[in-house]
Amino acid sequence: MTTTDTASVTALPPTVVVDHPLIQHKLTLMRRSRTPANEFRLLLREISMLLAYEVTRDMPLELTEIETPLVTMQAPILSGKKLCLVSVLRAGGGILEGMLEILPAARVGHVGLYRDPVSLQAVEYYLKLPRDISERTAIVLDPMLATGNSAAAAVDQVKAAGCQSIKFVCLIAAPEGLKVFHEAHPDVPVYTAAVDSHLNDHGYIVPGIGDAGDRIFGTK
Ligand code: URA
Repeated sequence: MTTTDTASVTALPPTVVVDHPLIQHKLTLMRRSRTPANEFRLLLREISMLLAYEVTRDMPLELTEIETPLVTMQAPILSGKKLCLVSVLRAGGGILEGMLEILPAARVGHVGLYRDPVSLQAVEYYLKLPRDISERTAIVLDPMLATGNSAAAAVDQVKAAGCQSIKFVCLIAAPEGLKVFHEAHPDVPVYTAAVDSHLNDHGYIVPGIGDAGDRIFGTK
């Protein structure tokens, strides 16, 4: 794992690049344009499980007394805030699946956002968050942090619902998007498998993977 201070202002939170070899290998397979949708989905699910380990690394533990077949012992269990996974529709669903494998007890929220093709601004069309999200740590999921507008808008909604402990997980981030996101939400760390070179004129990440939603669902 590498932590990079991508923005020049040191007070901004870190971008955590999860550079585990398995993740990097699987991401390379995903990037290939000839990788079919079924393989792409499986790889995203596998990478998401690996990202789940990293994003939950700081979850607090407490000791509880249990009986093993041999003795009584003090054993660690998770304590503190419970989790809420927030999927940014529609591509966030690709990460959600893998995260839920590792975190089956998490609640799930959805934020529906599409990107206006001209302004590249995020437009909201759906919002459903658990009622008790303010008592949980939210992990917001969207594979591509491109302009940063959708990511920032999704986190706006999670904060508006009262949640104060938030992390953002993506597959690939663009430097431009990280800057926008960290400036909008300096309290929210970003976990990503890669920081790519730049955005093109259409707001796509280069080299990237293309349109994540289309590649997950085979819609192109
Ligand atoms: N959304 C995508 O699906 N891909 C990009 O490269 C940028 C935004």
